[in-house]
Amino acid sequence: EIETSLRPKTVDEYIGQDKAKEKLKIFIEAARRRKEALDHVLLYGPPGLGKTTLANIIANEMNVDIRITSGPAIERPGDLAAILTNLAENDVLFIDEIHRLNRSVEEVLYPAMEDYALDIIIGKGPSARSIRLDLSKFTLIGATTRAGLLTSPLRDRFGVMCRLELYDDESLKEIVERSAKILNIDMEEKGAIEIARRSRGTPRIANRLLKRVRDYAQVVEDGIITESVAKKALELLEVDELGLDSTDKKMITTIIEKFGGGPVGLDTLAASTGEESNTIEDVYEPYLLQLGFLNRTPRGRVVTKNCYDYFGIKYEED
Ligand code: ADE
Repeated sequence: EIETSLRPKTVDEYIGQDKAKEKLKIFIEAARRRKEALDHVLLYGPPGLGKTTLANIIANEMNVDIRITSGPAIERPGDLAAILTNLAENDVLFIDEIHRLNRSVEEVLYPAMEDYALDIIIGKGPSARSIRLDLSKFTLIGATTRAGLLTSPLRDRFGVMCRLELYDDESLKEIVERSAKILNIDMEEKGAIEIARRSRGTPRIANRLLKRVRDYAQVVEDGIITESVAKKALELLEVDELGLDSTDKKMITTIIEKFGGGPVGLDTLAASTGEESNTIEDVYEPYLLQLGFLNRTPRGRVVTKNCYDYFGIKYEED
């Protein structure tokens, strides 16, 4: 986890994700003017793009407190009821990995989101009855890798949906430069470009690589991150020119060698590589798709000619 000092605190400090920022700025401003809670927000997209950071920024811009938890951490309905009854007016509740909430907990969320109410069942059997407890108005911010992982009743209760996308190299370069400044790291622009290019569109990876390249620059070189220092450090870390690692390469070579370049179904690919289907879909695939190295077809995943060319493998037309 990145230290909190690297996390931007305001929408204006947050680099990239222009579409999400534009929407959120307007909805935050409107809610503030009306002195209301912001409507519930679903943030979805690949890991490491700043969903938790954005939730903290929203709470900060709304001038309210944030309570942070995750789907798997809320085991029973009573756990969620305890959290909800402790929120103050207009507070933010952030639930990371919200698709992992269990069914009975999720059902407590429906009336809470819709009516700011908690339905409590008293008694058992024929004499059981339900009483309604009013909650403070609040904003639920849910985070998940894919909106499709949520049940539709839960998804339908979010008033704002924001998809976060992989960052382009220019935004990542700005993030690396901002982080270097905060951490007092001496870096040339071309060093930042090199780190950005190999960060697979992901700020969390960019910040991690920056720290490891700094270590290398300090111990092996004269402390300054130049282009050539960055290149040597990243080679040592086995991060290739495009940021691909051994798992990406295993996926690609498996599709090429065992399945003639595809199409191959996700589950078959998972079984052949020993990776989880979800991990392939959420962590590895987005960047390979963005690079144009992989295509998704109705019959499965296909490796593109560009990808064969990058790995120096001869492409056979079929
Ligand atoms: N650190 C992580 N994500 C960031 C972003 N989008 N902008 C600025 N700093 C970041």
